[in-house]
Amino acid sequence: MEILDGKKISNQIKEEIAVEVAQMKERGEKVPHLAAVLVGNDGASLTYVGSKVRSCKKIGFESTLIHLPEDTSEEALLQQVHDLNNNPDIDGYIVQLPLPKHIDEEKVLMAVDADKDVDGFHPTNFGKMALEMETFISATPFGIMELLRRYNVDISGKHAVVIGRSHIVGRPISILMSQKGKPGNATVTLTHSRTTDIKSLTQQADIVVSALGVPNFLKADMVKEGAVIIDVGITRVSDESREKGYYITGDVDYENVSKKASYITPVPGGVGPMTIAMLLKNTLLARERHKSKRA
Ligand code: GUN
Repeated sequence: MEILDGKKISNQIKEEIAVEVAQMKERGEKVPHLAAVLVGNDGASLTYVGSKVRSCKKIGFESTLIHLPEDTSEEALLQQVHDLNNNPDIDGYIVQLPLPKHIDEEKVLMAVDADKDVDGFHPTNFGKMALEMETFISATPFGIMELLRRYNVDISGKHAVVIGRSHIVGRPISILMSQKGKPGNATVTLTHSRTTDIKSLTQQADIVVSALGVPNFLKADMVKEGAVIIDVGITRVSDESREKGYYITGDVDYENVSKKASYITPVPGGVGPMTIAMLLKNTLLARERHKSKRA
């Protein structure tokens, strides 16, 4: 069994980007600038956004955090999005999800300029991804593909079972794994809450991608010997004995499933850090595209 070490690979990617940023600076060019919009004080979102902004600083990007109160109106948020679209200094930005219930998420994501949509959530970018056109691929599925690529995990002709059909992970990763390319060419089954007998499907899978958010969902008797296991779950479980009052766990019963797996991503330290690295990669791409558009 080999661990797919997302922390190590994400650090490599960040170092590669830092080298490119240093070269941009040497040439006297503007460095990439990422902005993040956070509405409210959801604990997990605060952690993620904080981590994204810190990573920017480390690799030499400019970053701006726009933290708005929980009761921000939809109109005010749309105005903020409009301002970011029109700010030439911003190369890319994200609106952290989930948004408070009184705000229509779809309306906000539709308002983001597709050329600055480094999350790849805009329908234009999602559509381009599905059609294998150049675009911004959402950071989590992009990170999973990059992890498979860098570990040379061959998924061609293999059966991949994806658990969860979210717009951010399940659906895009099922499309990417079935596309032509390397990694790619997998035969994909996308399972969800209405799937009857998920276990009978995961038991046949050469690759399982679990993006459900239910701790310990994927157990050893649900996977076959030698399977590749990608755990996208990040759940906070309350635990007063810990300093933070919680610990982070994935969807996979790691202790037992890892004994059967050929490759497995740990939680934390697997897919999570890759997501941040690929967001930075998309921001670098956004900078380069803006530059060549203006040239
Ligand atoms: N919420 C959970 N994951 C993500 C992500 O990748 N981007 C944004 N904007 N919000 C999220």
